[in-house]
Amino acid sequence: MKLLLLAGTGEARGLAQALAGMQGVSAIASLAGATSDPAPLALPTRTGGFGSAEAQAQWMRAEGIEAVLDATHPFASRITARTARISRTLNLPCLHLIRPPWRPGPGDRWVELADAREALDHIPAGATVFLATGRGTLADFAPLAGQGRRLISRQIEASGAPFPWPGGEYLVSRPPFGIADEIALFERLEVDWLVVKNAGGEGARAKLDAARALRLPVLLLARPAPPEGEVVESVEAALDWVRGL
Ligand SMILES: NC(=O)c1ccc[n+]([C@@H]2O[C@H](COP(=O)([O-])OP(=O)(O)OC[C@H]3O[C@@H](n4cnc5c(N)ncnc54)[C@H](OP(=O)(O)O)[C@@H]3O)[C@@H](O)[C@H]2O)c1
Repeated sequence: MKLLLLAGTGEARGLAQALAGMQGVSAIASLAGATSDPAPLALPTRTGGFGSAEAQAQWMRAEGIEAVLDATHPFASRITARTARISRTLNLPCLHLIRPPWRPGPGDRWVELADAREALDHIPAGATVFLATGRGTLADFAPLAGQGRRLISRQIEASGAPFPWPGGEYLVSRPPFGIADEIALFERLEVDWLVVKNAGGEGARAKLDAARALRLPVLLLARPAPPEGEVVESVEAALDWVRGL
């Protein structure tokens, strides 16, 4: 069985490790190339976008891919939807691993947003806003610029470009981040609001635990709609699916 693993998450890393040792499965991983020096995966890996849906389908045919396991990030909705479509067209089994979203607990001050543009309805003038939402969505927060707000956008790698609006800055910093570090960072920067994607998972939740400890309000961006197709929430369930192919 030749399997394509669409990677880019901690779960995909765990899957790669398990698939590398699985009898009867020959798997190849694919990374978007979003970060310049990702830690290697335990599988042969191709890196970079395919270029288009047609190019992805053509690559999958040429490689003799027989099944697809999509373990990309819950917000990577384009590659997920496209892969579901291609798999249907090529009549290949396809599974999406989408980890559960975070849910608020006692002490959390969360506001869930369907769209980043709603942030302006909640964050007052003059606030210091920590955007932990990554590079891809920064432009969506343009309405927050001005009115004395200070915007701090955390990025894994420096883009080389200046911050797009006055009153803002990048903070280049590579995860993982611990709770104590996040608390110290938010205190040092005098953060008033935290903005995050509801990514779910353990790896990125320290910022939310820090916000709870500091009683900081948090805007959580809701997830994109799930793909049409089979979805599981855990690495174990995804491996069971592979064993059943
Ligand atoms: N969105 C996030 O917040 C986030 C956070 C952490 C990690 N990631 C990871 O970063 C990658 C890009 O995320 P995104 O939100 O930009 O995705 P996206 O919007 O769904 O996809 C954008 C483009 O990136 C390429 N791509 C995405 N995943 C790929 C993969 N595994 N292998 C080959 N090409 C891939 C495709 O390019 P072509 O059209 O050229 O084929 C796709 O059209 C994903 O693999 C995701 O798992 C995303």
